[in-house]
Amino acid sequence: MKLGFIGTGIITAAVATGFCESGIDGLCIIVSPRNRERAQALRERYPDMISVAADNQEVVDQSDWVFAALLPAAAEEVIAGLTFPPEKHFINLVATLSLKRAEELIGKRAIIADVVPLTFAANRFGPVVIYPPIPEVRDLMSHVGTPVLVETPDQIAILRSVTGLMSAYYMLLTRLTDWCVDHGLDEPTARKYVTAFTSALSEKASAWPGPLEELAREMTPGGLNWMGLTHLEEKDAFGPWTEILGPVLEKVKKE
Ligand SMILES: NC(=O)c1ccc[n+]([C@@H]2O[C@H](COP(=O)([O-])OP(=O)(O)OC[C@H]3O[C@@H](n4cnc5c(N)ncnc54)[C@H](OP(=O)(O)O)[C@@H]3O)[C@@H](O)[C@H]2O)c1
Repeated sequence: MKLGFIGTGIITAAVATGFCESGIDGLCIIVSPRNRERAQALRERYPDMISVAADNQEVVDQSDWVFAALLPAAAEEVIAGLTFPPEKHFINLVATLSLKRAEELIGKRAIIADVVPLTFAANRFGPVVIYPPIPEVRDLMSHVGTPVLVETPDQIAILRSVTGLMSAYYMLLTRLTDWCVDHGLDEPTARKYVTAFTSALSEKASAWPGPLEELAREMTPGGLNWMGLTHLEEKDAFGPWTEILGPVLEKVKKE
């Protein structure tokens, strides 16, 4: 299996690492020379599987599957400058590039998909959203996470918007950990507890059979959780989390 990545940034490093760790037979990954340090670091870590191309066209020429992992500002110009034979499969990771526009740039082909992996693809867990639901793309991406197949561009845009809260969520974990430390706990214990606690909360929520709000309101009246939820609701602390999703959705909505 020959995978090529145009744009060797944060997400390419994560996804390529996940594939290298997956144990797929006969895996060859070719990455573009930018960013040079990141490309070299990947090559040094997985010398039997990763090579660094001389340029972006070589990535296309040497791959069966081409991943576009460029920043939105550069993506169209870079892709438009390349020749993509129709047998090359195209996986778009660029948040703002629509498949319709990608097809205008590279031509139609049997396998062209919009995919949203996240950096935990390096550890081969977490959701990977895929549109359209092409079985070959699902099978490929299942090596680096759990495929979530959606049927329309609007659906992938909605889920992509939610990913815009990843950093905010990590900041919440940071603040909770810092608060424990400020009150006298050592950092490793605080961090271990906060991350295990939030991970268990998510696991329970994912298996909860009823509406999630039922779970949120399952608490002792006047108890600790009642204090926490009442205070945050009075401050409208949840409002901003969904409020920002509107503008994020506008940004990632595609034709
Ligand atoms: N980060 C995530 O979790 C994530 C998740 C899903 C999707 N995405 C999407 O993936 C794309 C890349 O994100 P990222 O976080 O990986 O960004 P990034 O770290 O900035 O990576 C972009 C890479 O593109 C390279 N580049 C710039 N111009 C190029 C050119 N002409 N040819 C080849 N490479 C070129 C940059 O190299 P230089 O450093 O030398 O400029 C950089 O290494 C974005 O569209 C983003 O929306 C990101």
